[in-house]
Parts: sequence; C-alpha cells; structure tokens
Amino acid sequence: MKRVSKAVALIAAMLLAHGARAEENTLEWLTNFQRMKEVKPVESKQYREECGSCHFAYQPGLLPARSWEKLLDADALRKHFGENAELDKDTLKAIRDYAIENAADKSWYKRSRKIALSAAEGVAPLRITEVRYIERKHHDIPEKMVKGNKDVKSLSYCDRCHTQAGDGVFDDDTVDIPNYPGWRD
Ligand code: HEC
Ligand code: HEC
Repeated sequence: MKRVSKAVALIAAMLLAHGARAEENTLEWLTNFQRMKEVKPVESKQYREECGSCHFAYQPGLLPARSWEKLLDADALRKHFGENAELDKDTLKAIRDYAIENAADKSWYKRSRKIALSAAEGVAPLRITEVRYIERKHHDIPEKMVKGNKDVKSLSYCDRCHTQAGDGVFDDDTVDIPNYPGWRD
C-alpha cells in the first residue's frame, strides 16, 4: 500500500511539473513513459539498413556494450555466424558507436535493464538468445514451434513471433507463434 501511494505521488508530481505544457504533449510524454518499459526502438537509419537485411535489426538495448564491442569488430563481422557481414571502415565505426551508446547496460528502458542485470555476471554473450533472462523466457516453448516450425526456424528471428519486435516491444501479449494459433492453451 505504501509503495502504491508513493508511486501515485511520484506520478502526480511528474504530471504537475509537466502542467505548463500543452495537453497533447503530456499525452505524448505519458505514452513515452509507458514505452520505457520495453526496449528503445532503433533510430539510426544506417544501422537499420546495414543490420536489418538478413534478420530484423536487433535493438542495441538487447545486449550489453561489451557484447557489441566483440560482435561489431572487422574480423568478427567477416565470420558473423557463418555469414560475411563485412562493412567499410566508416560505416562500421558509426554502427559500432551507435550500438555501444545504446547498449542494454546504458539504457533506462526496463527490458534493457533486465538484460543488463542478467548478463552482468557472465562473459559477453554473442547472442541475445544466450542471455539468461531471454533464455528463461523461452524455456517452455516446444522445439516444434521454433526449430521445427518452417516460419520461424530459430529463436534468433524474434520478429517471427513478436509482432511488434521492430518497435522494440516484446511483451508476451504481442506474441503470435506462426502455425500455432492455440500455443497459449
Ligand atoms: C549477411 C547476413 C547478415 C548480416 C548483414 C548481419 N547478420 Fe547478424 N546474423 C546473421 C545470421 C545468419 C545469424 C544467426 C541466426 C541464427 O542463428 O539462426 C545472425 C545473428 C546475429 C545476432 C545473434 C542473434 C541471436 O541468436 O541472439 C546478432 C546480435 C546479430 N546477428 C547482429 C547483427 C548486426 C548488429 C548486424 C549489422 C552490423 C548484423 N547482424 C548483420 C546474418 C547477418
Ligand atoms: C517461437 C517464437 C518466438 C521467438 C522466435 C522469440 N520469442 Fe520471445 N517469447 C515467445 C513467447 C511464446 C513468449 C512468452 C512466454 C510466456 O508467456 O511465458 C516470449 C517472451 C519473450 C519475452 C518476455 C516478455 C514478457 O512479457 O515477459 C522477451 C523479452 C522476449 N520474448 C524476447 C525475445 C527476443 C529478443 C527474441 C529474439 C532474439 C525472441 N523473443 C524470439 C516466443 C518467441
């Protein structure tokens, strides 16, 4: 009860501080506040284009900075999960800087905080699907719905099931597993 009233007081104070602004701005602010629960959407067009051709452009907030440092290295990109994802020097620098600046451990988005905490103890994971928090969330999904599902193939293709993954939203209310409309039952 005490926590609830504290939260209400905080929101009220924030709203008051906001009172001077126009009503639609307040609405926009509230919507953004709600979105902060998830992962920050990709804002870099360059990142989206260069890293979104083979799979959807994973938000930098899905991995800690030290993971991006390892992944976004000239040599590593030449052997990127069995593919050559090489970039020219300037493009690589821009993309690498963007990913590191927006990494999970530098983000205030709630989902990113959880990822950062969960990846904190281990070595730098090279896969989002190896982060313990993400692993745990998918533990109970039967293989036939993932690897055995021709429209998914691997857990790496987040956007096959998370219908709003492109906007950084991974909430379980927005999940729809292809070919398994009744997966919740
Ligand atoms: C030429 C195709 C290609 C390009 C371009 C590419 N990737 Fe990948 N990426 C892959 C493949 C293939 C996988 C492995 C998918 C699987 O295991 O099913 C992968 C996996 C990943 C993973 C791990 C996902 C997991 O399993 O958790 C990350 C992170 C990643 N890529 C980031 C990037 C970034 C950042 C860029 C832009 C610099 C990029 N990729 C560009 C092909 C590509
Ligand atoms: C085969 C479909 C599928 C794929 C592919 C998939 N997910 Fe999920 N994901 C699910 C399901 C189903 C749940 C909900 C599990 C539950 O309700 O317990 C979930 C839950 C989550 C959650 C927790 C949501 C919540 O509300 O607590 C996160 C975060 C998440 N997934 C992120 C990812 C990311 C990131 C990727 C890609 C690297 C990914 N998922 C790939 C099916 C998938």
